[in-house]
Amino acid sequence: MTDNTAGGASVSESEFRSPGGGYTGDPAVRAEWDSRYAERQQLWSGRPNGALVAETASLTPGRVLDVGCGEGADALWLARRGWDVTALEVSGVALRRAAGHARDAGLTVNWVHAELTRAALPSASFDLVSAQYPALLRTPDAAAEQALLAAVAPGGVLLLVHHAGMQTQQTHESGFDPADYVWPSMVTELLDDDWVVEVDEQRPRLAPDGGAGAHHTDDLVLRVRRLR
Ligand SMILES: C[S@@+](CC[C@H](N)C(=O)[O-])C[C@H]1O[C@@H](n2cnc3c(N)ncnc32)[C@H](O)[C@@H]1O
Repeated sequence: MTDNTAGGASVSESEFRSPGGGYTGDPAVRAEWDSRYAERQQLWSGRPNGALVAETASLTPGRVLDVGCGEGADALWLARRGWDVTALEVSGVALRRAAGHARDAGLTVNWVHAELTRAALPSASFDLVSAQYPALLRTPDAAAEQALLAAVAPGGVLLLVHHAGMQTQQTHESGFDPADYVWPSMVTELLDDDWVVEVDEQRPRLAPDGGAGAHHTDDLVLRVRRLR
């Protein structure tokens, strides 16, 4: 399957890695996000998230995992700055666009078509795990929260950014229920003595212009470092 909205290049799914050979994860989650991306030629702004730019300014490039990479703007920005990027996404529509942009730009990214909890990622191996507005489904065993933390290498950082205020919203007629999703406080609750909280705050969003999320005004920013 190819997607010509990816830019100049036409990208096939054979360019994505997946632990199971194709997509690895719940087909319903993939279908929901594929249909959302397919509604528009481009869903997000195409520019890197402001919190990512600000919070990585002091970091030395190493291995980074971008969780829920969408159309790839953060992944490409990181790759341009010398990071060795693995970018994970459930939507094949979004991933084809992202891979097309990378190809157009001559950048190398390791694209993974899988749900975070099914991706069979190498544990404790990323210097930075970045999850920007990741829309991870909550489960009783906190699998997504644990997967975010487990991917971080000793000395590395987890940067989790979400839209402020969403976790306290009423269930929406569209079906959105905040209780279904992972929020930064749920990750903070799991931290033990191996972790130090470097940033845990709400602040005005440094939003890229345009894109479907442009109306959100404030971020929740959680930045935690794994000591050992
Ligand atoms: C709100 S979008 C944010 C996209 C991107 N990080 C950005 O800031 O533009 C959330 C993304 O997470 C992806 N996603 C949802 N559940 C996921 C999961 N369990 N594992 C990996 N990606 C997931 C969606 O397909 C979507 O692209």
